[in-house]
Amino acid sequence: MPKLKFKSSQFSLNQYETVLDCLLRNKQYIPYACRAGMCQACLVRAVNCDATDESKKWIKQSLQDKGYTLACQWVPDSDVEAALPTVEEFSVRTTIKSLDYLNPGVIRFILDVEDKDRMFHYYPGQYVTLINPRGIARSYSVANNYEEDQTLEFHISQTDQGAFSGWLFNEAACGDVLHMRGPAGDCYYRNASTEEFPVILAATGTGLAPLYAILNNALDNNHLGEISLYHGGRTSDQLYYVEELEKLSQNHPNLHYYPCVKEPGSKTSGKDTKNVNAGSIEEVINKKMDTGTLATTRVFLCGAPDFVYNMRKQFFLKGAKSGNIYCDPFLEHSVAATGGTN
Ligand SMILES: Cc1cc2nc3c(=O)[nH]c(=O)nc-3n(C[C@H](O)[C@H](O)[C@H](O)COP(=O)(O)OP(=O)(O)OC[C@H]3O[C@@H](n4cnc5c(N)ncnc54)[C@H](O)[C@@H]3O)c2cc1C
Ligand code: FES
Repeated sequence: MPKLKFKSSQFSLNQYETVLDCLLRNKQYIPYACRAGMCQACLVRAVNCDATDESKKWIKQSLQDKGYTLACQWVPDSDVEAALPTVEEFSVRTTIKSLDYLNPGVIRFILDVEDKDRMFHYYPGQYVTLINPRGIARSYSVANNYEEDQTLEFHISQTDQGAFSGWLFNEAACGDVLHMRGPAGDCYYRNASTEEFPVILAATGTGLAPLYAILNNALDNNHLGEISLYHGGRTSDQLYYVEELEKLSQNHPNLHYYPCVKEPGSKTSGKDTKNVNAGSIEEVINKKMDTGTLATTRVFLCGAPDFVYNMRKQFFLKGAKSGNIYCDPFLEHSVAATGGTN
């Protein structure tokens, strides 16, 4: 079996085992999140050896030239050595500027960028990887446009026993430092030739974060076609930004905002529910959607993976072109069966 050298230790790789899995199995610290080549949290440097083409193809050429590769995609077939970049390398240092609740289960937090000259360009709607002071890395969608606000906004929901969200809800404080890598994802508004196509944005929970960024970007670009935004929750407590979105739709006649609540009678925080659409988000979309224009509609789907995959299928079957359906399923960080450190 090939050997993996890491720091001052050497480990045997199992057959078809990735460098990431081998390190986690041997209780070594390495940040990771998606395990799918998307978030780049698991970047490592191949020392005095070549990483496989498969593991390098996900990262830009300038990093490949320096020997960097993704540990979650690297399955060595001979002895190799890997080294971690320092957390500062390839990351932008940020600090928490503010933390507040958007609803009982969702925190909005705003980050100030400390390394302004290292800040990267991203398209509103893309996601980044955040690494907290404990070294826990997770992907989160940016809800605003840094170039306008000079800050970054995130909406994060509380996950039962979640490592990152648990830290955020229980311990995080203004001034805490987070390192950020990114950006990634193709869920963003593009309309170089100012076409007048309809846009459908649909999300459950904090899936609203990327959609809020995409919506504001489309409005800032004076999008001419109709825009329909569907945001779903089980109860009205699970919605947020209702007033902001109602106001936006009053100011933009082509914007139609549909807050959807599956159980409209059951609310705990006394929020006004008079304008919500009763029913699951899928039911409301099916009722309101104009199937006649679906062939030219750009569809953006974000949030719970089941919802995203189910709606992608439905939109495609009803006439949307697959190339016009952009998806951001909030896949859970897969828990290492071997007991990884993050
Ligand atoms: C592209 C993308 C964008 C995203 N954007 C957002 C966003 O904007 N907002 C947002 O809120 N989320 C977003 N997410 C989801 C986010 O990345 C995290 O998955 C989510 O916040 C949960 O992380 P956590 O560390 O709190 O939970 P984790 O620690 O990852 O736990 C996830 C689940 O696994 C369970 N679990 C944990 N440890 C164990 C164990 N040892 N054994 C068994 N089960 C265990 C937990 O109980 C929990 O249910 C996004 C995900 C992706 C992929
Ligand atoms: S790219 Fe390797 S864990 Fe995300």
